[in-house]
Amino acid sequence: MKIGVPKEIKNNESRVGMTPAGVFELTKNNHIVFIQSTAGEGSGFFDEDYQSVGGIILKTMEEVYSLADMIVKVKEPVEYEYPLIKPNQIIFTYFHFASSEELTFAMLNSKAVCIAYETVEDAEGTLPLLTPMSEVAGRMAIQQGAKYLEKPIKGRGVLLGGVPGVPPGKVLVLGAGVVGVQAAKMAAGLGAHVTVLDTNLKRLRYVNDIMPSHVVTEFSSEYNIRKHIKDHDLIVGGVLIKGSKAPKLITKEMLKEMRPGTVIVDVAVDQGGCFETTVPTTHENPTYIIDDVIHYCVTNMPGAVPYTSTMALTNVTLPYVLQLANFGWEEACQKDLSLQKGLNIVQGKCVYREIIEAFEWSEKLVP
Ligand SMILES: NC(=O)c1ccc[n+]([C@@H]2O[C@H](COP(=O)([O-])OP(=O)(O)OC[C@H]3O[C@@H](n4cnc5c(N)ncnc54)[C@H](O)[C@@H]3O)[C@@H](O)[C@H]2O)c1
Repeated sequence: MKIGVPKEIKNNESRVGMTPAGVFELTKNNHIVFIQSTAGEGSGFFDEDYQSVGGIILKTMEEVYSLADMIVKVKEPVEYEYPLIKPNQIIFTYFHFASSEELTFAMLNSKAVCIAYETVEDAEGTLPLLTPMSEVAGRMAIQQGAKYLEKPIKGRGVLLGGVPGVPPGKVLVLGAGVVGVQAAKMAAGLGAHVTVLDTNLKRLRYVNDIMPSHVVTEFSSEYNIRKHIKDHDLIVGGVLIKGSKAPKLITKEMLKEMRPGTVIVDVAVDQGGCFETTVPTTHENPTYIIDDVIHYCVTNMPGAVPYTSTMALTNVTLPYVLQLANFGWEEACQKDLSLQKGLNIVQGKCVYREIIEAFEWSEKLVP
């Protein structure tokens, strides 16, 4: 198969869909890999590194899309890329369709086969291609949140760890999944007091078992959220209902209950966000303020740490890329049910129920 790796053009996105190690494996299996020139530079991989393992460097994105049977990338295609996508071409990347009807229609119209990293699901119900990026984003949420709590950037002026004689800051984590656990772990490591809320008691039991005693768990309810937002300095939103829009756990009206300078980091922004006032932001302009509450809502948080993120992502995507290349999408998805769950849009048809529900399309109108 001919596989194409374009350069990511989303704002401040420096990850790349494949490392030289991936190209090495694919060429060993007699596939041809086209890499757009400089695609890997932001992650520390240069054109010569790809060439040395058999990759073919192409100058433009147009060439990569036009020659490849399968495109392997990181983020969803942006508007510039829509017309480059060909019918039947496999696009293997993060899509997060439920958060963008425009992207969904563009992919339906392209008649491509869109396999979404975020919905590939293994037998245990976990999301193996989302996990490493959630790990990165969960850890980063605390790093970023701690920074924006500083006074010169309009935060409350709280040091999360406190100092001897001064109590630590308080961190509220919504969701005890991958993002939530990593955020709680980082916050606890800094010495903050951490409260983790989830509706899934199994997850709360797990957090309770593995975390130190200054990380406390509570059932997620509107009552408990209202109670905690009043005195927590940093709030991290890491909830997920697979493939659907995130539930709005913090409304605009609730912001008035928070203290001025509270920082809220909506990691779930890529699924529409779990705060009513969430608007997607970029690494260039990551924050905005509403009612004295600092919102950080960057949709591609791991893009800011591409050295770590590209390696973490491609470690898990490569086995699936190999299956798709070796067998074609139909056979690969038949053989591997977890990959089958990644099928979102197939040749002009939406095949993922949660997307249909997210846009409230009636069954008759489903394209
Ligand atoms: N912004 C970014 O750069 C970035 C990067 C990685 C992941 N994400 C996003 O972060 C989100 C979380 O990902 P994850 O891997 O941690 O998911 P996960 O499935 O591991 O965890 C989600 C958790 O949310 C919980 N939940 C659901 N409804 C809830 C509610 N009402 N109250 C409290 N908890 C609730 C679930 O029980 C689950 O434990 C996803 O939307 C993912 O796409 C964003």
